[in-house]
Amino acid sequence: MNSSSPFRKKLAIYFIGFTAALAGLLFGLDIGVISGAEGFIQKDFGIPDRMIELIVSALLWGAVLGALMSSYFSAHFGRRKTILMSAIVFVFGSVACAIAPNEYVLLGARLFLGLAVGMASFTAPLYLSEVSPQAVRGGMISMYQLMITIGIVLAFLSNAWLASYANIGGVVGGHWRWMLGVIAFPAAGMFIGVLFLPESPRWLCLKGLHDRAVGVFRRLHLDDAEIAAEVAEIEDSLKVKQNGFAFFRENALFRKAVYLGIGLQIIQQLTGINVIMYYAPRIFNIAGFTSTLDQMWGTVIVGVTNVLATFIAIAFVDKLGRKPIMYAGFVTMGVAMVVVGVLFNIGVEANKALAFPAIGALLIFIIGFAMSAGPIIWVICSEIYPLAGRDFGVMCSTGTNWVTNAIVGMTFLTMLSTLGNGNTFILYGALNVIFIVVFMLFVPETKGVRLEQIEKHLLSGVPLRKIGR
Ligand code: BGC
Repeated sequence: MNSSSPFRKKLAIYFIGFTAALAGLLFGLDIGVISGAEGFIQKDFGIPDRMIELIVSALLWGAVLGALMSSYFSAHFGRRKTILMSAIVFVFGSVACAIAPNEYVLLGARLFLGLAVGMASFTAPLYLSEVSPQAVRGGMISMYQLMITIGIVLAFLSNAWLASYANIGGVVGGHWRWMLGVIAFPAAGMFIGVLFLPESPRWLCLKGLHDRAVGVFRRLHLDDAEIAAEVAEIEDSLKVKQNGFAFFRENALFRKAVYLGIGLQIIQQLTGINVIMYYAPRIFNIAGFTSTLDQMWGTVIVGVTNVLATFIAIAFVDKLGRKPIMYAGFVTMGVAMVVVGVLFNIGVEANKALAFPAIGALLIFIIGFAMSAGPIIWVICSEIYPLAGRDFGVMCSTGTNWVTNAIVGMTFLTMLSTLGNGNTFILYGALNVIFIVVFMLFVPETKGVRLEQIEKHLLSGVPLRKIGR
């Protein structure tokens, strides 16, 4: 059974990785698409900022529900079927957003689409980590992260084209319905791709379908020794029963880890990243770039910066460690946000020379986020939970990410109008500075430490800050 070439083996694994990572791409597309569309939606429907905030954040509340649902779906129906379901919801949700006759239907359609985002963001990384053989596992997970940022930038590009250039039915630009609707195409592509994917071997073993799990590994062109090692590892890990909620209720030390994960995701969102992801064109407008074209291309530059700076984290996270990179990130983000705020307070509209420094600072903020909190918070959250409570812990921290994300999206325009443009950014800047202290006091360094070691320290009562050492 060992006749396959390494090339075919790689091809099979990368096909799987790529298809499942398309879920990350769709997730990114949905994060990115609204920033270009919201201004046109507001004009078209004649709705106030409050309604726009709700339309922006409806997707995220849907995602919270979707993530909760998929912990049940992926356990009962399997990972593959859950990803297939999410692809169907992606297709219908995108079309529903595109044809919504009024703001209320759009709100409902965004909530529905959010289910797909939540389902995909919970299940695809799980599937990827379960289906990829050990040797390529790390690379597969980073590929998923990177796909999210690429999805965001593709959405920004498609927005720029549809906002300014596309001539549809004799109308040039402003096509927000198409911005929201085009996502149905990659979603349909993902649906077709997933039809060809195998089920997760770990889930098959969980259901007692041992032979089918072996069949999947054969499809991946693993040789007999590799299959035996993979299966032994799965069987070993299945010996630890996952009963996260009971563990949470009974074990104060595990609770500490869950609270840490929740806190870390709140911190990631309160850096203010999604204020920029969802409202970048408006921020460019505040900075004095009043033409749609400038705003859209400015937003594309934000997206490209976000992708490129993610590579800094990928390159250094296992060399320098998580905490030094996070400190550098928080300082960069804090200073950059305060600079943006101060420049906005001085008044960029009146003083055109300040517009470029303000946008420069905004881009430096993006670099600070993408090289640190963006990927690293997810990394730490995947490392701090003991095996018996890992699914539960990840569900709590991922759910918190979406809830805080929704709150940030829901409050930004109100903050601008009540606190003022400049002060809103200064407030986010100040939060980043506070997070440095939180990191110093509570967050462990987990670089190069085996997960079993972290677990042992945590459960023997070592303070959180030291469970990595
Ligand atoms: C965050 C998202 C954010 C994205 C930007 C992710 O790590 O969880 O909320 O939109 O980074 O790249």
